[in-house]
Amino acid sequence: MQTIQQYITEHKQRFIDELIELLKIPSISADTAYSQDVLNTADSILNALKKAGCTNVELCETPGYPIVYGEKIIDPNLPTVLVYGHYDVQPADPLDLWDAPPFDPIIKKTDIHPEGAIFARGACDDKGQMYMHVKALEYMTATDNLPCNVKFMIEGEEEVGSESLAWFVPRNIEKLANDVILISDTGMIANDIPSITTGLRGLSYVEVEVTGPNRDLHSGLYGGAVANPINILSKMIASLHDENNHITIPGFYDKVEELSTEERNEMGKAPFSLEAYKNALDIDDVHGEKGYTTNERNSIRPTLDVNGIWGGYTGEGAKTVIASKAYAKISMRLVPNQDWEEITELFKNHFEKIAPKSVKVKVTPHHGGQGYVTPIDNIGYQAASKAYEETFGVTPIPQRSGGSIPIVSLFEKELKSKTILMGFGLNSDAIHSPNEHFGVWNYLKGIETIPYFYKYFAELS
Ligand code: BES
Ligand code: MN
Ligand code: MN
Repeated sequence: MQTIQQYITEHKQRFIDELIELLKIPSISADTAYSQDVLNTADSILNALKKAGCTNVELCETPGYPIVYGEKIIDPNLPTVLVYGHYDVQPADPLDLWDAPPFDPIIKKTDIHPEGAIFARGACDDKGQMYMHVKALEYMTATDNLPCNVKFMIEGEEEVGSESLAWFVPRNIEKLANDVILISDTGMIANDIPSITTGLRGLSYVEVEVTGPNRDLHSGLYGGAVANPINILSKMIASLHDENNHITIPGFYDKVEELSTEERNEMGKAPFSLEAYKNALDIDDVHGEKGYTTNERNSIRPTLDVNGIWGGYTGEGAKTVIASKAYAKISMRLVPNQDWEEITELFKNHFEKIAPKSVKVKVTPHHGGQGYVTPIDNIGYQAASKAYEETFGVTPIPQRSGGSIPIVSLFEKELKSKTILMGFGLNSDAIHSPNEHFGVWNYLKGIETIPYFYKYFAELS
């Protein structure tokens, strides 16, 4: 029987070419100007699943973008793996910071990817990583090597909060029934230090609006005598952290899961160079909550960050004005046990309370979701770990990530199954940034590793 390694050697150029075609479609879910492209991408995935050997392939209608579904059931008595991924991508702007157009993929060598990386929006997050699963399935069906059942569920709204999927899942519990959920939409430490993501942070995302006078004012005639919403908003935002960089919202930390000293020591063993971290970002120092290391700050601790702030005059030259309104978008990354709706409420109450009488404040909640953890004694984790040992030659390190895939906790609640996060991207792959890329080596390594997950999961089940 042909091994996955032989199959990749024979088909790798086609695997790369197919991904490049997929990356050419600008499936930006946040911008309605691209809605036809998002729909076309769903069609592409549908055809790819058919070609890879799935049956019952369909576009499932939702209130938003369709969910692409397909399955290969070989024996109802065997375990079932549900693969999840997303075919939508983040907006590509700022466009002028890209070295090449974001939807015209090119392959370029980098220091970290000497064998070349594919540069395009979505290359790593998540088209490239999702497509590894399609190609791994192609191998398993073409060579009669599929050891269990598989279902695919690929959505088109992950980057905007997965609202339609949250609608779809509870309505399709039977259809989606599975023994484990498998996702490649995270990263690993380095190509020679593989890791498996064992946790994701939750998220609460809000928009705030501060209103001062009922119209924009001449800043000479009124300045100093009425509240300037931009000044006030800045001060309010600054007050959300204290001198130790703790978040000041009352009750914010009440439910935060505190890790034991042993767990923190275990985490601290993961290879990490603070110097390399700073160099990669061109910063002279890091910043964060007192009493925690950089790796703890960005994984097991909750945060609050302003993601955008605007108001007043930002055009060319100067305009002496006191704006009537100021705005900010604020996100809070949450850790297990913190409830995102409760945190949103705490934020809202606090923000309204700290506003001076001279302004009015409006807080509008956006999307959110709960954090997530996978215990490493879970058989899905064990199967993944053995798969990496097979293809990387070393045992992968369990690592909690700072990112969020809010739908994962909903899967656990509705489908009662655990998710295994086998990510093959690197932090330096610039997801959500200009020049996003995915190493060709990583893409092929993912395709190589996935069939072993199926093998060991079937064996251990
Ligand atoms: N794939 C990412 C999440 C991710 C990346 C987790 C790397 C861990 C490591 C996902 O597409 C994403 O961007 N999620 C958003 C949240 C979503 C609600 C917009 C995020 O984390 O900001
Ligand atoms: Mn993603
Ligand atoms: Mn993303």
